[in-house]
Amino acid sequence: MDALGPGTNGPAPGARVAVSTTGTWQEYVCVPCTSVIPVVHGVSTETACQLTVNPFTARLLVRDLALDPGDTLLLTAGASAVSRMVIHLASERGVRCLPVVRHPEQARALTRLGAWPVTVSSAGTLPGAVGDLVEHGQVTAVLDAVGGALGDAALRCLRPGGRFVSYGMLSGRPLSVHPDALVFRQVSMHGFWLPARMERLDDKELSVLTEEVQEAVVRGLPGLEVAERYDLADFGPALDHTIRHGRDGKILLTG
Ligand SMILES: NC(=O)c1ccc[n+]([C@@H]2O[C@H](COP(=O)([O-])OP(=O)(O)OC[C@H]3O[C@@H](n4cnc5c(N)ncnc54)[C@H](OP(=O)(O)O)[C@@H]3O)[C@@H](O)[C@H]2O)c1
Repeated sequence: MDALGPGTNGPAPGARVAVSTTGTWQEYVCVPCTSVIPVVHGVSTETACQLTVNPFTARLLVRDLALDPGDTLLLTAGASAVSRMVIHLASERGVRCLPVVRHPEQARALTRLGAWPVTVSSAGTLPGAVGDLVEHGQVTAVLDAVGGALGDAALRCLRPGGRFVSYGMLSGRPLSVHPDALVFRQVSMHGFWLPARMERLDDKELSVLTEEVQEAVVRGLPGLEVAERYDLADFGPALDHTIRHGRDGKILLTG
């Protein structure tokens, strides 16, 4: 951090901080001190720039689901950074995680995290593939970042009373839900959006959460790997790299 506004309480200039804001593709940004997080020792700068979104999202998704040991969690976009973090945090609680991926090499990497990956080339084959791993219909909860046909297929894998959380729309397609799932199978559906969820935290809860997240990062939370670094001026190739399938880490802009 370079400077503190007059009369503002916050970390001293020179402190390493992470910010939660838009407009960060520039060398300097001015933000309210409430959106600044002091970065603890042991968190690198490359990790700190990823701190305020995905790790907080993963921690809150796992906390809000409050799954029990032995429960089964199905994750679409299973190789994403958020999914890898969730797998790590949920597996620590004894939850069996089934990440859905499109590439066998992603499945191999997720197995090393203790997950039971499901590799599918089309959404229609998902319920059958999940049924081969767990007794059909026994998925406790779904975390869906894709929507469309894959989200629909994941919903069909839920057991009666299961929970479906939508937190992304990578397919750009809508979910289509037959009322049967809600009425007879008693499935519940929720949306998760980090800014709205953070607004419901009081100062104490936010400070505890920030500490928990940084602790998890220092202990080696997966999903923070960097695939490539580009100079800010090369944002075009950086964006091309970001949408490449099978990318195994984040693309960083440096300046
Ligand atoms: N609601 C919130 O508050 C919140 C907060 C943070 C993140 N998110 C969302 O969480 C999602 C994951 O973010 P991230 O940063 O973890 O992503 P990421 O690391 O960039 O990974 C994206 C993953 O999604 C997969 N994918 C992309 N399009 C897909 C599709 N149509 N069908 C199936 N898989 C697809 C990719 O697989 P391939 O390699 O096969 O292409 C890749 O593994 C994003 O949608 C993001 O917007 C939401």
